[in-house]
Amino acid sequence: MPIGVGTWAWGNQFLWGYRSEQDAALQATFERAVQLGLRFFDTADSYGTGRLQGRSEALLGQFRSALPPEQRDRLLVATKLAPLPWRLGRQGLHRAFEASRHRLGGRLERVQLHWSTARYAPWQEGPLLEGLADLVAAGAVGSLGLSNIGPRRLRQVHQQLSRRGVTVASLQVQLSLLAPEAIAPGGVADVCRELGIALIAYSPLALGLLGRDPGAPLPATRGARRLLFARLQPRIGPLQDRLAGIARNRGVPPAAVALNWCRSHGAMPIVGLRSIAQAEAAAAAAQWTLDDAERQGLDAAAAALEVRMPANPFSSG
Ligand SMILES: NC(=O)c1ccc[n+]([C@@H]2O[C@H](COP(=O)([O-])OP(=O)(O)OC[C@H]3O[C@@H](n4cnc5c(N)ncnc54)[C@H](OP(=O)(O)O)[C@@H]3O)[C@@H](O)[C@H]2O)c1
Repeated sequence: MPIGVGTWAWGNQFLWGYRSEQDAALQATFERAVQLGLRFFDTADSYGTGRLQGRSEALLGQFRSALPPEQRDRLLVATKLAPLPWRLGRQGLHRAFEASRHRLGGRLERVQLHWSTARYAPWQEGPLLEGLADLVAAGAVGSLGLSNIGPRRLRQVHQQLSRRGVTVASLQVQLSLLAPEAIAPGGVADVCRELGIALIAYSPLALGLLGRDPGAPLPATRGARRLLFARLQPRIGPLQDRLAGIARNRGVPPAAVALNWCRSHGAMPIVGLRSIAQAEAAAAAAQWTLDDAERQGLDAAAAALEVRMPANPFSSG
């Protein structure tokens, strides 16, 4: 699967300005994405702010249920379960898993641990992973994935799970031209390649920044995303020029170039979508690839920048 879809914004008021009046547009976005062949959808039990927690899963479940069976069955829906401090022991995520599966309409193809607790509660993670592996072994879910785990810890988890015959299907980490750490030598991309784990790039557009024109007005919703864009946008001009140049030559939007940069480094980008036009751009981006010169030019433009996206504080080493 070349490109997948992220649904963090579906239900998130604070960062993404979600309102329930957007649901019809989100459903139309989802249906267009599926119609155009996008099959992988990522969500999480923590998506949705305040009383809306779980809304992303609920919407995804609702939208999927409304599809004709032949489309419904082709999808791969992956949720992430949060290792919250009170979710302890081998059964610690089982109730959360059932709740997610219920919100998703009874169908869930992959369960992922949302982040590693290795930095602050190293004893918590092992039993939780055993519990997720139990769910796979029992056939309750098709496969197991990880998220926000670094190269050293990834090797340990891979070993722990392979002892009982459960494979790690995927690892999702932040990866974009403004967060290229995963593909640095010795980074997690190398370990994924070696161990046969699919690498998934989250926030591949740096929350949308890489899909914008250099002079675009800041996002309307106040808060962290707007502040981040205000800080980064004035300092990434050379990268945006490089993206725009490739985009012009190929007759595609800059976002498509940024997504294909992730693919050129062996990752499947999961891009957050909120409109039919964005779904169409994502599906179109899956139809072509960057050549070596384009990739190298983007690598160099990214390396020359002095700013980066903030790293996820829950990522392990
Ligand atoms: N595992 C984790 O800890 C973790 C963390 C973060 C994200 N994720 C996953 O990764 C997914 C994607 O990341 P993300 O949502 O943070 O950010 P992203 O994919 O980098 O950016 C999404 C935003 O980009 C803009 N966009 C999309 N297509 C575009 C196009 N063709 N042209 C211009 N702009 C476009 C849209 O912004 P507007 O709607 O404002 O136009 C969209 O909301 C999430 O939805 C989530 O599923 C996982």
